[in-house]
Amino acid sequence: ATSYPFEGEHQSGILEPAQRAAVFVAFTVTSADRAALQTALQTLTSTLRYLTTGKDVPYDGLASTSYENGVLGAGTVTDGLTATVSVGASLFDGRFGLASAKPARLRPMDEFVNDALDRSVCDGDLLLQLCADNRDTVLHALRMIMRATRADLQVLWRKEGFVPPPRPSGTPRNLLGFKDGTANREFLNDPKLVERMVWTQGTGDEPAWTAGGSYHVVRLIRMFVEFWDRVSVTEQQRMIGRDRQSGAPLAGSKEFDVPNYAKDPYGNVVPATAHIRLANPHDGTADDQRMLRRSFSYSEGTDPNGQLDMGLIFVAFNQDLDRQFVTVQKRLADEPLVDYISPFGGGYFFALPGVRDANDWLGRGMF
Ligand code: HEM
Repeated sequence: ATSYPFEGEHQSGILEPAQRAAVFVAFTVTSADRAALQTALQTLTSTLRYLTTGKDVPYDGLASTSYENGVLGAGTVTDGLTATVSVGASLFDGRFGLASAKPARLRPMDEFVNDALDRSVCDGDLLLQLCADNRDTVLHALRMIMRATRADLQVLWRKEGFVPPPRPSGTPRNLLGFKDGTANREFLNDPKLVERMVWTQGTGDEPAWTAGGSYHVVRLIRMFVEFWDRVSVTEQQRMIGRDRQSGAPLAGSKEFDVPNYAKDPYGNVVPATAHIRLANPHDGTADDQRMLRRSFSYSEGTDPNGQLDMGLIFVAFNQDLDRQFVTVQKRLADEPLVDYISPFGGGYFFALPGVRDANDWLGRGMF
């Protein structure tokens, strides 16, 4: 079974390839005061340390293993569990004396032109992203964490996601049938790119404590899959800019080919409004806007009209929210894909820097 280290400069659940199961839960912090919030974050840290390392370490709040809910049966397994804790702008509203510690770009999620936001599933004081190889592991962790932090964290919204298992055709597909995550590969073997695109540096107008953290964008995006399934493959491919089967850019022949749009200035091969061409024009103007995406699919039954409620939990990590995600999202306003999707929730969060050692705890730098 895979196991990821709990301590480090950065939290886990960011650079690791997406596991098969995930849950995203946004909470309202109900701690009475600053000291109570600190205690809650310490309890959260020790609970996560226990869950992700599988070691029988003593942990506050749940000192006795009799609280173990038994969902995974005997013999603790880590099962590739990662926990990523991020904070929302509202945590810095003054309740806890944290106003001056707010990451500079953090704010409630913007409403973009094609959004239909339901504010009851947007934002939150704290976001917990739990990922593991199996769904029961994620749900076990969620229950253990909620039990340990019941007095301080109240659920605001929640979404469960999945990534398909390995398939013969390679890179996992999203529910539109296209490979998702291809362009992420450039981050895998390039630590310098990760340093420039993922980790906030704690310099300039950013508070020093933000160093090693990352702007964590979550967008809940419904897909109108019934409509999509009536569109010809050719038209689908022109909307995305890639071949549906192989994942190759229409301006290339293999999945990982880098598209060269200079040869196609009028968009005869890849329309100028294709998703990947707008997201990354590869003309030197958008090199500092690249972002590490780590999205999951969701499926939740049917809506009142009998249509499948499916979509994408789009997740991206950014060194600078505005320079990367917001700039790209604004450019995507003109893409034809907008007729087949509807962003309705999510939020802007800041993934805390990692827990350095046994005495450190998540969020300590904020205080
Ligand atoms: C690439 C689908 C939303 C940004 C892609 C690819 C697909 C895809 C199939 C090509 C494969 C890959 O490189 O991963 C979708 C779908 C979405 C969605 C179905 C909504 C339901 C978004 C959003 C953003 C975004 C909200 C950011 C604002 C990107 C970027 C790339 C990409 C930056 C890589 C471009 C490159 O460097 O080649 N998307 N996407 N996508 N998407 Fe999306």
